[in-house]
Amino acid sequence: MQWMLRIFLLSIGYRSYRSFLKGLSYIVQGVNRQPRDLETVIGWGASQIAGIQKTPFVAPLFRFSMPSKDVYSLFHLRFGTPITFAAFESKTPMLEMWLSMGIGGGIIKTMMAEPQEGNARPRIQEVRLADEDCLINAMGLPGPGMSAMLSAVDEANLKRFNRPIGVSLGGHSISEYRAAWDQFLLSKMAQETSRTFVELNISCPNTEDGQSLIDNPYLLAELLKDLRSQSDVVLGIKLSPDQSHESVMTFVEIARSISSCYINVGNTVSKQCADVGLASDAISIGKGGLSGPVLFSRTLERVQALQGCGVPLIATGGVDSLDKVVACLGAGASLVGMATALVINPTCIPKINAGLKRIHSAEL
Ligand SMILES: Cc1cc2nc3c(=O)[nH]c(=O)nc-3n(C[C@H](O)[C@H](O)[C@H](O)COP(=O)(O)O)c2cc1C
Repeated sequence: MQWMLRIFLLSIGYRSYRSFLKGLSYIVQGVNRQPRDLETVIGWGASQIAGIQKTPFVAPLFRFSMPSKDVYSLFHLRFGTPITFAAFESKTPMLEMWLSMGIGGGIIKTMMAEPQEGNARPRIQEVRLADEDCLINAMGLPGPGMSAMLSAVDEANLKRFNRPIGVSLGGHSISEYRAAWDQFLLSKMAQETSRTFVELNISCPNTEDGQSLIDNPYLLAELLKDLRSQSDVVLGIKLSPDQSHESVMTFVEIARSISSCYINVGNTVSKQCADVGLASDAISIGKGGLSGPVLFSRTLERVQALQGCGVPLIATGGVDSLDKVVACLGAGASLVGMATALVINPTCIPKINAGLKRIHSAEL
């Protein structure tokens, strides 16, 4: 009961503080005649969270346990809960907060080998669709590059949580995916294959060539064969909800032909700003990838369509509640991935875990 009260109070605190930061940043941006930019709010929030992690009396408020001891699995990787963070964040204080709150593991934001600026700002906005909070982003995979990101993860000592952590590889071409992989292979994480995995992001709608491998499945198959010959780390392919069922099945066949290879069913859905009620300059490139609850029906349909396909599935796209997690697992997903829900209110982690705990005890 005390646990539920803590979740309730944290939820109110998080939502109120986030609204306050959002209001403040929009006022500052308005006064400076700048366009609204949610990334400022996210940046402020991340630095506050970094502070909280270091505050002895406040940090324990964010600590929650997982519902089970390693019941969920993705090949040999074991998870204490099926909920994971999808690839969208690399700031280690955020990853540490979600892990403290009881997430089972997750995938760090896609990195290319070389540092990337990403698209011009503004490149992420919040939108309200069907009465739900969603995001549209055209980040364009900014980041410090694979080696620098892996060093930061190592420095933050995320392995103290002893949960599987994935690395997402990006590239504009096969050689760029290979370059990111080569840097991964040199990292400490690559040596720890009992709790590391690698996902190939072939479905980014926000870079010019982010989906080039979707159009060249056989190049991807060759690449995966080559990666498999170099390491026995679990590999995954992240697909787009915009793909047809036939296209998805091609990738399922490829995953089946590679040992220990899974499919992640959902990235964002490509939309123009006008499609979601935003002015065309609300995102610098006029369009982006929509994420959040409005994606869920498509996520579930895709998992249902792939049920029994012989490849483990991660259900990503719109998952934010116990009911949705249970529906995805019931349809055959091994794990679920969450992104938008963690930005909007990460107390969904202990809430879902509390529900799963109740389900586990009822089953005993
Ligand atoms: C701000 C933001 C950045 C993202 N960056 C990545 C990324 O680097 N790599 C990737 O595979 N997916 C990325 N995604 C997509 C998410 O991982 C996820 O597939 C998508 O948002 C759908 O899940 P959701 O509805 O739970 O947000 C990003 C999503 C958001 C909102």
